[in-house]
Amino acid sequence: MDDMGERVLREIEEAKTLAGLDQLRLKYLGKKGEITALLKTVGSLPKEERPGFGAKVNALREVIETRLREKTASLEREALEEKVRQEVVDVTLPGNLPQVGSLHPLTKALREIVGIFYGMGFTVYESREAETDEMNFVKLNLEPGHPARDAQDTLYLTDTTLLRTHTSPGQIRGMLEMQGRLPVRFIVPGRVYRRDPMDASHSPVFHQVEGLVIDRHITFEHLKGCFLEFARGFFGPDTEIRLRPSYFPFTEPSAEIDVSCTICRGKGCQVCGRTGWLELSGAGMAHPRVIRNGGYDPDEVTGFAFGFGLDRAAMLKWGIDDLRVLFENDLRFLTQFEGL
Ligand code: DAH
Repeated sequence: MDDMGERVLREIEEAKTLAGLDQLRLKYLGKKGEITALLKTVGSLPKEERPGFGAKVNALREVIETRLREKTASLEREALEEKVRQEVVDVTLPGNLPQVGSLHPLTKALREIVGIFYGMGFTVYESREAETDEMNFVKLNLEPGHPARDAQDTLYLTDTTLLRTHTSPGQIRGMLEMQGRLPVRFIVPGRVYRRDPMDASHSPVFHQVEGLVIDRHITFEHLKGCFLEFARGFFGPDTEIRLRPSYFPFTEPSAEIDVSCTICRGKGCQVCGRTGWLELSGAGMAHPRVIRNGGYDPDEVTGFAFGFGLDRAAMLKWGIDDLRVLFENDLRFLTQFEGL
């Protein structure tokens, strides 16, 4: 029986799992267990041997029970410790930071532009991108068959509605919304569409910023002063502008506005073709018929208008030489404008 005791205790000691311990408990202490079987033999022993034998077996059973309890507790503790080890979270590890986005350069450029014009008392009028032929062309003196229409082919939604080719129809809609009140002083930023294949300087979708001022006694000088203020605010305080005679059906007289080259500051470089000047905007005095189409009397008020490419302005400001990068959303390009 001493041999057996040693064997049982060794088996308990070597058990690796709680299930294993349960099996040992069954094997020795269960109804059909070996210790139980020993106890049952007591009755068949000679009387004088019974107490001694019974006491021994009971003592052995107690030892086994105690060891089983201890071993169970120790296996349970180990299992718990292992669980804790596996589930531990190191709260000091650096987290997975989400990539933080930044404003698109065109959005930044527009916000700056809007800020500058706010400073001069302008509001922002957002016109519509789906426009009528009437608004996009006719009300701006571009009758059907007008040769200037050729340069502005676009996608037609129906026979009479199209994706606007410029923000100039915003002049008419903005004026009509003002219902004759003065002064009219707003810019119209937004997307415009042309039938152009994409290349380094063309895109079928691009952005313009239109400007319109209507009031009594508005002169060409106001146009010059206003645009110079904008150009210096946007491109830098040493920027100059110059106006060249031009033609637009909705302004008379009309001009092209150049800004001094943002790269060489007017000295002459590759970007400006060694002229020192960069063409930026169309402009002019609002045509009397346009003023009338907006619900105002051209005998009472005058005004000026301008329209330039937002994309081009942003490219000139930051020295971007390919329009396409503004539309490709390549993070290597966009992240360069973080914090700018
Ligand atoms: N709408 C013209 C274009 O897209 C640009 C323009 C020229 C706008 C002269 C004007 C302007 O307001 O006065 O080419």
